[in-house]
Amino acid sequence: MKALVYHGPGNKAWEEVPKPTLQADTDAIVRVDAVTICGTDLHILKGDVPAVTDGRILGHEAVGTVEEVGPGVKNVRVGDRVLVSCITSCGSCRYCREGSYGQCLGGGGWILGHKIDGTQAEYVRVPFADTSTYAAPEGVSDEQLLMLADILPTGYEVGVLNGHVSPGDVVAIVGAGPIGLAAIMGARLYSPAHVVAIDKADSRLEAAKQFGADVTVNNDREDPAEVIAGLTGGLGADVAIEAVGVPATFELAATLIRPCGRVANIGVHGEPATLHLEDLWIRNVTITTGLVDTYSTPTLLQLVTANQVDPRPFVTHHFPMAEFLDAYDTFARAGETGALKVVLTRS
Ligand SMILES: NC(=O)c1ccc[n+]([C@@H]2O[C@H](COP(=O)([O-])OP(=O)(O)OC[C@H]3O[C@@H](n4cnc5c(N)ncnc54)[C@H](O)[C@@H]3O)[C@@H](O)[C@H]2O)c1
Ligand SMILES: [Zn+2]
Ligand SMILES: [Zn+2]
Repeated sequence: MKALVYHGPGNKAWEEVPKPTLQADTDAIVRVDAVTICGTDLHILKGDVPAVTDGRILGHEAVGTVEEVGPGVKNVRVGDRVLVSCITSCGSCRYCREGSYGQCLGGGGWILGHKIDGTQAEYVRVPFADTSTYAAPEGVSDEQLLMLADILPTGYEVGVLNGHVSPGDVVAIVGAGPIGLAAIMGARLYSPAHVVAIDKADSRLEAAKQFGADVTVNNDREDPAEVIAGLTGGLGADVAIEAVGVPATFELAATLIRPCGRVANIGVHGEPATLHLEDLWIRNVTITTGLVDTYSTPTLLQLVTANQVDPRPFVTHHFPMAEFLDAYDTFARAGETGALKVVLTRS
């Protein structure tokens, strides 16, 4: 089969590799029907995630059809259409029992396209298939469903829920890539007073408006702190969500927050950021970090099925899998191409 293989920082190839086989009784082999690229894959390609080594198939988001299941798989059957979540869960360790699947101690967590071969391939081996896949609901297309593999639960759990977005809040979202946009969409469910999107790319700020931000700030041209001060009588944002993953944006989020506010970091960071504790200690600020757990996936599936959340606007580009390198290029130059999520399907 063909797959997108990582060959060290800056290097990747769409190349022939062996088709995966069952390795444990609880595995499934899924034929990938639709797959996408994440900002985290770009971090991996920059060398920010050293656990990913040469030869690894990237990708942690997919919708596909089950081809084969091990004898220990109880609920997933050959032929089922499933969502392959970015988080794999053993279902029985201490963390999985608490719903913190991202921290799974039983061999799950974020492993696809990280510690084991991922979904940017014609076939993928999914460990713990019963607890790591979700049956596709009728009436929800592959590409809609694909947005629930990572971006929607991440924006919702690590941004909106960790940040405790509440009615009437002024919510600042730093970074309007797919994750920031998912956080905007999730924040809107709680009737905030204002959602302020901050980004350096005007194309992303345009998208942010469509996803429900009522104020946008290009921080190359305007000072977000002044804009937020103007909306909050000088206090600062109730919630600041960081959705970029570089020191400057974490530090910016921490300066935008009001006393007793909450900074929710979503970004994957590859280097240290400065925490200005000398300013923050007296302000009762809460800072949260997190890897997505995907405990909200059932809720999000309900919202999508009921048309309360519409993932379709995320999908800006379509490619056949054979054009994976072009898809990466389009996604990596999002500021110019206007790409949000690129969807690749079987050619
Ligand atoms: N915590 C998790 O579980 C989790 C899961 C998925 C993704 N992530 C991370 O979330 C982050 C966002 O992902 P994405 O797919 O939206 O990435 P992306 O690269 O598509 O979007 C990032 C956005 O930030 C903007 N930006 C860059 N520098 C900026 C600056 N100095 N000021 C303002 N805006 C700036 C870019 O223009 C872009 O629009 C990444 O770090 C990704 O790795 C985390
Ligand atoms: Zn991701
Ligand atoms: Zn577990």
